[in-house]
Amino acid sequence: MTNQAFILLCIVVFGVVGTCHGGSLRKGYYKYTCPDAEEIIKKATEKHVANDPTLPARFLRTHFHDCFVRGCDGSVLLNSTTNNTAEKDAIPNLTLAGFDVIDDLKAEVEKKCPNVVSCADVLALAARDAVSFKFQTPLWEVLTGRRDGRISRISEALANIPSPLSNFTALLRSFTSKGLNVHDLVVLSGGHTIGVGHCNTFSNRLYNFTGRSNQDPSLNPTYASFLKTQCENLSDNTTFVPMDPGSALTFDNNYYVTVKQNKGLFQSDAALLANKGSRKIVDELLDSKKFFTEFAQAMKRMGAIGVVTGNEGEIRKKCFVVN
Ligand code: HEM
Ligand SMILES: *[C@@H]1O[C@H](CO)[C@@H](O)[C@H](O)[C@H]1NC(C)=O
Ligand SMILES: *[C@@H]1O[C@H](CO)[C@@H](O)[C@H](O)[C@H]1NC(C)=O
Ligand SMILES: *[C@@H]1O[C@H](CO)[C@@H](O)[C@H](O)[C@H]1NC(C)=O
Ligand SMILES: *[C@@H]1O[C@H](CO)[C@@H](O)[C@H](O)[C@H]1NC(C)=O
Ligand SMILES: *[C@@H]1O[C@H](CO)[C@@H](O)[C@H](O)[C@H]1NC(C)=O
Ligand SMILES: *[C@@H]1O[C@H](CO)[C@@H](O)[C@H](O)[C@H]1NC(C)=O
Ligand SMILES: *[C@@H]1O[C@H](CO)[C@@H](O)[C@H](O)[C@H]1NC(C)=O
Repeated sequence: MTNQAFILLCIVVFGVVGTCHGGSLRKGYYKYTCPDAEEIIKKATEKHVANDPTLPARFLRTHFHDCFVRGCDGSVLLNSTTNNTAEKDAIPNLTLAGFDVIDDLKAEVEKKCPNVVSCADVLALAARDAVSFKFQTPLWEVLTGRRDGRISRISEALANIPSPLSNFTALLRSFTSKGLNVHDLVVLSGGHTIGVGHCNTFSNRLYNFTGRSNQDPSLNPTYASFLKTQCENLSDNTTFVPMDPGSALTFDNNYYVTVKQNKGLFQSDAALLANKGSRKIVDELLDSKKFFTEFAQAMKRMGAIGVVTGNEGEIRKKCFVVN
């Protein structure tokens, strides 16, 4: 069914134009145009995750970065060209790997339905399916209908992706600028329950906190000593440590336990305790059930940031290059 036909049908059924504009995401957007799309992506994602347990963290982070730069439009997946340095090359210490796997997922979908499913949707679905793999049930709902952007700029990535050195004010400002609030900030930071951080993203806390060779007083001293055994100097960008030690491959709410123990890896993690309101939210999320519910809702909000829909943008044929 074409988009126009959908809108007509929608108006007939609901009688309200407002709920029927083509410009928003919806459940099962590909139901008629590529009925197997979501299943193909899920199966292929699970195959990859079974072989590489680090993929859930990579995909989740890549989806976050996609959404925070120009909206969730797949721009993070584009490669640099002779004339343009793309988002993915923004920060050498970013290491948002897994791009090749996304390209592979897209190729699988293209085989069945060429030019129908956007790379932005492939990424959003893959992130959900990868994180959900061990649970055998989707942890959050992913609405679809995103289209792909054609622009990816290194400068925009640098300006929009929050730094691990951020204080609470800077973090909140970043999230607010994306239409998210303090609750989303604390809940989505829970994504750090899986994955790793490279030494150079936090070593200033160990060796040069205020520029006087000292340690960050808000970091648990015992844990700091341990981290020093892992990260020998400020410029080490190859060694990495789990962000949630002990369960770095398990998606759970243990991140908040870690943060409460002053063992949050980044200054941005520790910053969640620096504000009364956010500290209260950290405490609430120590309840596992609450965390899963809240995370699902916040991911839906994050997945809707600045989406390109309707007739804007394009459906890329290959995720690393515009059509
Ligand atoms: C609140 C602001 C945030 C900051 C400052 C931040 C910063 C970082 C940094 C510095 C790393 C380590 C990268 C490396 O050294 O390889 C990282 C990893 C990660 N981040 Fe965040 N992040 C933030 C929010 C989020 C959000 C909202 C999500 C998703 C919901 C997320 C998911 C992840 C994941 C899963 C990893 C691990 C990646 C991997 O192991 O490959 N982060 N983050
Ligand atoms: C795109 O860039 C990635 C690195 O981000 C690289 O591994 C890949 O080979 C590039 N693909 C093409 C087709 O240039
Ligand atoms: C790069 O820029 C030059 C000069 O502006 C232009 O001729 C060329 O077509 C551009 N190449 C690409 C790949 O956009
Ligand atoms: C690590 O740092 C070195 C030296 O500054 C640099 O040449 C290299 O590109 C960096 N590697 C990564 C993965 O950031
Ligand atoms: C937080 O960081 C911002 C930007 O780096 C800075 O301007 C501000 O002074 C900091 N706020 C506090 C309370 O340290
Ligand atoms: C990358 O590393 C540099 C130097 O260690 C640091 O200033 C910058 O904030 C880091 N950026 C991210 C996003 O990790
Ligand atoms: C420590 O930080 C100060 C101030 O930012 C800087 O001037 C100095 O070069 C840093 N030391 C090292 C070893 O990087
Ligand atoms: C920092 O540590 C890394 C990893 O141990 C090592 O490869 C690098 O040479 C060290 N750099 C300096 C300046 O000591």
